[in-house]
Formats: sequence, C-alpha cells, structure tokens
Amino acid sequence: LGPRKPPSRKGSMADVPKDLVEQIKRLEELFTVPTEKLKEITNHFMGELEKGLQKDGSTVPMNPTWCMGFPTGYETGTYLALDMGGTNLRVCEINLPEEKGEFDIIQSKYRMPEELKTATAEELWGYIADCLQQFVEYHHEGEELEEMPLGFTFSYPATQDYVDHGVLQRWTKGFDIDGVEGHDVVPPFMAALEERGVPIVLAALVNDTTGTLIASAYTDTDVKIGCIFGTGCNAAYMEECGKIPKLAHMNLPPDLPMAINCEWGAFDNEHKVLPRTPYDVIIDKESPRPGQQAFEKMIAGLYLGEIFRLVLLDLHDTGHIFEGQDMSKLKKPYSLDSSFLSAIEEDPFENLQETADMFQNKLSIVPTRPECELTRRLSELIGTRAARLSSCGVAAICKHKKWDTCHVGADGSVFNKYTHFKARGAQALREILDWPKSKRGQPDPIEILPAEDGSGVGAALIAALTLKRVEEGNH
Ligand code: GLC
Repeated sequence: LGPRKPPSRKGSMADVPKDLVEQIKRLEELFTVPTEKLKEITNHFMGELEKGLQKDGSTVPMNPTWCMGFPTGYETGTYLALDMGGTNLRVCEINLPEEKGEFDIIQSKYRMPEELKTATAEELWGYIADCLQQFVEYHHEGEELEEMPLGFTFSYPATQDYVDHGVLQRWTKGFDIDGVEGHDVVPPFMAALEERGVPIVLAALVNDTTGTLIASAYTDTDVKIGCIFGTGCNAAYMEECGKIPKLAHMNLPPDLPMAINCEWGAFDNEHKVLPRTPYDVIIDKESPRPGQQAFEKMIAGLYLGEIFRLVLLDLHDTGHIFEGQDMSKLKKPYSLDSSFLSAIEEDPFENLQETADMFQNKLSIVPTRPECELTRRLSELIGTRAARLSSCGVAAICKHKKWDTCHVGADGSVFNKYTHFKARGAQALREILDWPKSKRGQPDPIEILPAEDGSGVGAALIAALTLKRVEEGNH
C-alpha cells in the first residue's frame, strides 16, 4: 500500500464519500438524545432518587454523609485534606482565618500510579500514607507537631454510620482492589499512618461531591448542589432528615439538614431508560464491575475516550475507515482519554490538521480528510451526549426538591476542560425545564458554575464543622 493522501486544506462534508456520510448518520442516530428523551430520563431519575432515600440497597444509593448543614463562613483553624482521586492524589493544608469566607491553601500533588488501581489494599493505604507523611515532613520540618485534623476525600460510594467512617460499597472508576469492598476503609488507613508515626486525627471522610457542595456554598449561598464531572460523575445536595425515610429509625430532628451523596453514576443499572449503544454495552462488559455505574459509563471522563476508540475500531473492522493502516495502537483498551476528543473538537474545521497530527503521533494512523471529519463529528456526538445526559441528573434533583432556581457548584476535568461541555449542559437544562427562548440573555434559572476547590477547602470545612459539632456535644 502506498502512502495515503494527507488531509486536504479545504473541504466540506460534501467531499465525504457516501459510505462515510451514511456511517455518520448512523452514529448521529445512536448518540443524539432529543429533548423528549431528556425529559423522560429526568422523570425516571427523580423517581430513582426518591427510591434511594427510602431504602438501602436501591439502585441509586443516596448515601447519608453525616455532613449536617452549611458552613457559616466563620469556620476557623488549620486542617489537612487528602484527596484520593481517580488520577491524582492531592494533599492540602488549609487555613481558615477569622475573616468570613476566606482561606489559604498549600498543596502537593502526587500521581496515583495506574498499577495502584489493581494493587493490594496494603499497597494502596501504604502509598497514601507515604504521601501524607512526605507532605507533613516537608512543610513542618523539625516542628513539634500536635495531631492535625484531616478531612479525607474518598470519592467512592461508602455507607457511613458516622462522619469519620465509611464502608466501601463497591469500587468505581476502574479501581479493583481486593479486600476493601464491604469493609470500613478508615482503620487500615489509620493503621498505615500510625505505622509511619504521622500525627493525624481523621475528622471526616468526605465524598468529592459533598466537598464541592460545601466549598461552593461557602462563597455562594445560592449553591444547593455539588457536582463532579471528571473521571467519574456524581452529585450531592442537602436533604432534610425528615425526608430521608431510611433514617427514620434514628429519630433525627426532621428539619436537620444532611448532605446526601447521590452516587448517581449507578442510575439506570437496570437499563430501563438510558439510550445505550452497542459500544456502551461493550464498555460495561469489559469493565471490572459489569452491571454497575450504567449512567457514569456513558458520561464520565474515564469512558469518553474509550467509547470513541470502540466506535473507530468497529468502523475499521467493518471496512469503513483507516483501510490498510496499522491498528495495533488503537486496539489498546483505554489508550485515549477525553482530552483527545476535546482537542479534536477544538481543531479548526477548515483544516483539521491537529486532528490528523494527533492520530499520526499517538496512534500511528494517517487519516484522510473525510476520516478526520468523521472523528470530529464523533467527538461532538460523544461529548454532547455526555453533557446532555448529565443535565438530567441536575434537573432531577431540582425537580425532587421543587427548586425553581439554584446554583450548582461543579468541578472535574470534563467540566473544566472539555470544550463546550458547560454550554451543552446549560442548553440541555433549558430544554428539560422548557425555559422559553424569549428569556435567553437572562441568567438561567438553574446555573451550573465552576466550584471552589471541594476536595481541599470542602474537606477542611467539613472537618471544621464536624469538630465544632463534637465540641458542642452533638454527634
Ligand atoms: C464515582 C464515585 C463517586 C464520585 C464520582 C466523582 O462516581 O463512585 O463517589 O463522587 O466518581 O469522582
């Protein structure tokens, strides 16, 4: 086979061969979610949130977090925060001064080695404890340290009977470490710290969504929901204890607020309403936890590149694209992350040169101009579907709470870095809420805004709120 024609500088869809046009049309049908479907998903979602509040073991877990109430802005003190994310591990020291709503933060980032995701529990806790130890020794060298309170952002579904404990329900986001699911994660973590003599008391185990909710509400009192659109996807909001039937036996004051970590990634695990494509089915089947996190697997950053990769492989296998090219690199599972798609979407359509270069450099594939156009459209379809579906979750919480207006604090790599994600999510919300075109230009009733640093400041604030509650004798 001779060299392939490089992508031409000019061109429009008119130049795309009929066969590829048909394939693009097929993909559009598979990945487009029309307004009516968004509304249907939202309504079903609302019912599932309500079921989760009623009974443990429902599809959407709706986990009570024992983070009770919002900060006043006058929290003070120095706290450590540890964020065990899917990709990075971050340690922060946060100082909350006397001034309302202020904070200072110092932080160090460590990589979460990929191998750790499938390591042993001992290796996991040992690695995290090593990072914390390094941080403390570096920033407090030679100091006589008293025990520092820590907010531990552990962003996986956990059953909590107290704010400083959590039994891992199941691993998500591709983690697969034996012997952790079904156990309280705090004792082995604390044991690893004690072994190393790191002077820390764990004040609170926090989900990243709860941290985001609290940190955002600290500076914007209109914030009622915290969302993460990152490696995983999830949300938290404040519920009144009287409206959480599964906690009725605890006789908590009915008006007492309690943050609920929805764990909405599990929405529609029964496949009743989400428009899954054959590619979503493969992702699920090949994942370490088939049957789990149906919603998350269609929208979160961990999976977007993988959906894209599976579609391209399928189109190649059925003889539509990349004829005669070496596919060995594209055959490697999870070799593309969502930033690859976002970069394609940002490439000016006129020449799509960057797209061609990325395929060549990363995958050793030389795409034709029409193939570049197809990958561009595919990225748009996958990115748009993710943004639109995630808005159904936000709308469902608002509908359940009967909130006509509110702010949503959002964080995560997809929200912050995936091009057009915010605008597409906002557009979907307008469609779901029937927000009339005549009101465009005014602020949207439900606005999803970039959050304050939830896993640092949020975890510190929750630690502060918890210690205050303990001091006041309310557990
Ligand atoms: C996954 C986790 C959840 C977390 C989300 C975002 O869905 O299960 O706890 O909030 O990812 O990181």
